[in-house]
Amino acid sequence: MGKCAGLQIVCIGAGYVGGPTMAMIAYKCHDVTVTVVDISEKQIAAWNSDTLPIYEPGLDDIVKERRNKNLFFSTDVDGAVEKGDIIFVSVNTPTKTSGIGAGRAANISNCELVARNIAKVATSPKIVVEKSTVPVRTAESMGRVLAANEKGIKHQIISSPEFLAEGTAIEDLLEPSRVLIGGEQTPEGHAAVQKLVDVYEYWCPRERIITTNLWSSELSKLVANAFLAQRVSSINSISALCEVSGADVDEVARAVGTDYRIGKHFLKSSVGFGGSCFKKDILNLVYLCESFGLHDVAEYWNWVVKMNELQKERFAKTIVKRMFNTVTRKKIAVLGFAFKADTGDTRETAASDVCRFLLEEGARLSVYDPKVLAEDMERELLYAKCEKDQIDQQITRVEDVYAAAKDAHAVVILTEWKEFKELDFDKIYSVMEKPAFIFDGRNILDHAGLREKGFEVFALGKNKIN
Ligand SMILES: *[C@@H]1O[C@H](CO)[C@@H](O)[C@H](O)[C@H]1NC(C)=O
Repeated sequence: MGKCAGLQIVCIGAGYVGGPTMAMIAYKCHDVTVTVVDISEKQIAAWNSDTLPIYEPGLDDIVKERRNKNLFFSTDVDGAVEKGDIIFVSVNTPTKTSGIGAGRAANISNCELVARNIAKVATSPKIVVEKSTVPVRTAESMGRVLAANEKGIKHQIISSPEFLAEGTAIEDLLEPSRVLIGGEQTPEGHAAVQKLVDVYEYWCPRERIITTNLWSSELSKLVANAFLAQRVSSINSISALCEVSGADVDEVARAVGTDYRIGKHFLKSSVGFGGSCFKKDILNLVYLCESFGLHDVAEYWNWVVKMNELQKERFAKTIVKRMFNTVTRKKIAVLGFAFKADTGDTRETAASDVCRFLLEEGARLSVYDPKVLAEDMERELLYAKCEKDQIDQQITRVEDVYAAAKDAHAVVILTEWKEFKELDFDKIYSVMEKPAFIFDGRNILDHAGLREKGFEVFALGKNKIN
């Protein structure tokens, strides 16, 4: 029996963060009961089925091993809150679509609603853990809502942002680079933080568990994502320079990244970063700076997002330019739609903006992705402001790369799926229109080999030579 034997952990929100994180706690702490709740019946039914609602390597095994032992998925939010000792809040905090800060500030309406509900339902003191990525000082607001209950119960709010990356969530949870837990600087606050430290200590070395005050914890999450995204935008800005100067962006990245102070990770040039977090978190940071009057700081970080938008546009324009300045009515095979490999997640994927440019130019797109669901793809295209009738008339989704390539004028790589490196490019070449173009938006293919086969290859940040 561990330190936390008998502890009841509840998580409100069964998404990309809540689901895997809770599965890992259940997997590592057999004497703790973990209940994941969500108001979406469909989502919970999927978590209880053989086909989990999210794809994440290794997740299936962990869920199947602990489900209905000490890991439960339920729609009974109030029942779970009532019996929980520690309640994680892992709900969506999308960008506001209207009102003050629309398009930049986070909509924390879901967090507040959850806090109000906990205050209403709870009959004993709870430790409420803010796990969603939220603007700085959200915990304080949630704490005040929680304190305003009429039963005189004193709940504790702590912040513990999640640093897992989609596609490697299970690895990241098994061996986190760090676990961050922020709490109020009071004896009760320290005790609440310690409770959560005890849980993570079941499998994380204590020195990797960082405890801070509430606001440092909240801000650290935004800053971590801003720094990561900044590296991508930095190397992407250099890719543009490489294309005109004759330098090769991969060579530059390697030469630069071997300096241990810089490091080699996240220096891969690409069509642009995506995912639900990077853009949202930076815009949040920008909004936060602006609201404190730090306009220069805001502008500095805003350029990380702008550079990303420009990279997608530059890539799409290159496609059109190389294909004799017109793609109208030409078939283009789009390989990959997920925002990165090993996930079916399409949120903020660079692919949707590239597709929008090509649709507007009149191209016919044949899209293949091994994991993305058709409905997610359509939702994301609409979100990226593609016209519904263009989506219906100009895009077909295919289940096979070779069907996508048949009679296509170009193949465009938008996600770095490993299987794309292993394709039979002789076969692809033989079924394509000529000249057969390849635009490698992830720099994953063997460009010299493809040129030998007869392809016209464009790769980011390395094209002066031809
Ligand atoms: C905030 O989110 C809620 C719940 O998802 C939604 O009903 C509301 O319209 C959103 N508000 C803004 C200003 O975006």
